Amino acid sequence: MKKQIIIDTDPGPDDGVAILTALGSPLIEVLGICAVAGNVPLPYTIRNVCKILELAERQEVRAFAGAEAPLTRPLFTAEYVHGKTGFDGYDLPEPTMPVQPQHAADFIVEEVMSRPPRTVTICALGPLTNMALALERDERIAGRIEQIVWMGGALSEGGNVMPAAEFNCYVDPEAAARVLSSGAPVVMMPLDVTHKAHVTADRIQRFRSIGNKVGPIFAELLTYAKQFDWEKYGADRAPMHDPTTVVWLLRPELFSGRQVNVEIETVSPLTTGMTIIDWWGVTDRRKNAYVVRDIDAEGFYDVIFESFRRFP
Ligand code: RIB
Ligand code: CA
Repeated sequence: MKKQIIIDTDPGPDDGVAILTALGSPLIEVLGICAVAGNVPLPYTIRNVCKILELAERQEVRAFAGAEAPLTRPLFTAEYVHGKTGFDGYDLPEPTMPVQPQHAADFIVEEVMSRPPRTVTICALGPLTNMALALERDERIAGRIEQIVWMGGALSEGGNVMPAAEFNCYVDPEAAARVLSSGAPVVMMPLDVTHKAHVTADRIQRFRSIGNKVGPIFAELLTYAKQFDWEKYGADRAPMHDPTTVVWLLRPELFSGRQVNVEIETVSPLTTGMTIIDWWGVTDRRKNAYVVRDIDAEGFYDVIFESFRRFP
């Protein structure tokens, strides 16, 4: 039985690698891809979803637009990393495939409620606004979703957008808090993991030499994004964030972590979006998430390249 997943995403290139890793795996069925505002505004994220599907020649996969802004806060975006379009670095053709008329949150509810319990997995690659809206529409989904695998937060890696906050959590901390308190099974891929799976020059060369059109295009997209991270992290490499969620589904043995409590700071202006992770169990708070801390980076990239080789 293939793993049936919905991808919720704010493409950027690392989201694109995650989407293609899923689409390229014979063990995964992508039920639909939902765009959310995050790296760039929604008009660009939904456009980038369609660009990726057309590049992969997988236009049969349905694309849904979701939230244009966080639940309560103004949208904060990251053009400074990914450019105005979120896909600067390579000019993919303007997509022509249709976007579904249904709101992403309604699609998530419909899919989860219409399929057998614990058979739909959510890979959440951006702010959790769509997931929070889906829970508002029908909180029963929390008891039916197989797992929400979310790239977000940080345990001891600090923040990448604010000193104490990772981007996906910072953009919509209320949504993250809503999802983490919903009772749905959550697996978290924090910066502590993604900062151990760097896109190095060698790995970009591996994308470039895959021998199809998709690999070299993503080598260019990742090179563009790496320029920002190079200055920031002071090395010729960049974290690879979002594909950790998909590779977890395919090869969980490449990762290690533990079931702990995670709370989200939504009040203090100094630490808004911080994930407070009780790694040592010093409280009796509900252990609401499996937080991953380590990764076999070589094995992780082997899975990505195995999927990428299956594209035109
Ligand atoms: O902090 C990294 C996360 O923020 C990644 O998902 C990246 O794509 C951005 O959404
Ligand atoms: Ca993302």
